[in-house]
Amino acid sequence: MGYKVAIVGATGNVGREMLNILEERGFPVSEVVALASRRSQGTDVSFGDRTLKVQALERYDFSDTDICLMSAGGSVSKEWSPKIGKQGCVVIDNSSAFRYDPDVPLIVPEVNADAVAGFAKKNIIANPNCSTAQMLVALKPLHDHATIKRVVVSTYQSVSGAGKEGMDELFTQTRAVFVADPVEAKKFTKRIAFNVIPHIDVFMEDGTTKEEWKMVAETKKMLDPKIKVTATCVRVPVFIGHSEAINIEFENPITADEAREILREAPGCLVIDKHEDGGYITPLESAGEDATYISRIREDSTLDNGLNIWVVSDNLRKGAALNAVQIAELLVERDLIKPRQKAA
Ligand SMILES: NC(=O)c1ccc[n+]([C@@H]2O[C@H](COP(=O)([O-])OP(=O)(O)OC[C@H]3O[C@@H](n4cnc5c(N)ncnc54)[C@H](OP(=O)(O)O)[C@@H]3O)[C@@H](O)[C@H]2O)c1
Repeated sequence: MGYKVAIVGATGNVGREMLNILEERGFPVSEVVALASRRSQGTDVSFGDRTLKVQALERYDFSDTDICLMSAGGSVSKEWSPKIGKQGCVVIDNSSAFRYDPDVPLIVPEVNADAVAGFAKKNIIANPNCSTAQMLVALKPLHDHATIKRVVVSTYQSVSGAGKEGMDELFTQTRAVFVADPVEAKKFTKRIAFNVIPHIDVFMEDGTTKEEWKMVAETKKMLDPKIKVTATCVRVPVFIGHSEAINIEFENPITADEAREILREAPGCLVIDKHEDGGYITPLESAGEDATYISRIREDSTLDNGLNIWVVSDNLRKGAALNAVQIAELLVERDLIKPRQKAA
């Protein structure tokens, strides 16, 4: 028996990756429906060796659909997720629209799988921000061992985190630089080709950005409200793969060797940490992979119980599509959802 799954945003970066991952992991589907805006109606997307015709979200009836993987931005989600949920279809949402709603679980399966049980209040489950997801996969096992007090994180985030337009802008600007054409910035606030931009999402009143705020709020909701987090989020000219330099202060002692052993055994983590040239991971190597990679594990001699780590993951996968499919798998494994019969 399989589930009828609809992907909203199926033509986008994350939506296309969702289709790949559903197929790769053999998620039990009876049917997969590709949805996007009216602009894309009738275009084709691939699902394994099949081709799906994209339908318009606003014309689609969810009454016999079991799971909706929503990946079309916050405003689309705000409008549609509650309506879809009310029709009995469970929405797993990639946007930030419902992440901080107390009636909506925010889930990274390796971190807080049990919280998924609370989904039935709204039939919506939120997927965290890409930077938070990979950070927490690495922090959770360390927190369980030595209790994290404070985290200082600097991110190096790829342009695919800003959607198709972000990737196009890096490509177009890079080409323009090489052929000495004028370089135009549309999606990003400054030139991204051969540059870095310390600004992701909107500015908050206190001078932090919303992206930085999300890392704080989501860590508290999913891992532990007592952990203090301070973040600097930076866009870098990389197509796929977010990297993070994380400084961690613990309550209890933990050595770099202990951390390495813990992370080697931890779900979703892959340690690549040789103290030699190239003995670490870069975002290029993480693209298309499911793991959260951890390198450069070392003690911080300026703290009593401190570590530095380097964490890299494919933002379109663990940061979005893979995590959403893992949440759907969790619903199935825990028998929290049953395939619905087509409404008469
Ligand atoms: N990229 C990441 O690393 C990442 C990580 C975590 C979360 N997310 C979140 O995932 C969502 C999608 O990101 P993305 O990177 O895939 O963006 P994207 O490449 O720009 O794709 C956006 C998708 O949304 C669809 N869409 C736009 N307006 C719509 C509407 N009114 N009705 C139905 N569909 C509509 C687009 O369809 P058309 O082709 O018809 O325009 C397209 O399929 C965003 O909420 C983003 O914040 C992204």
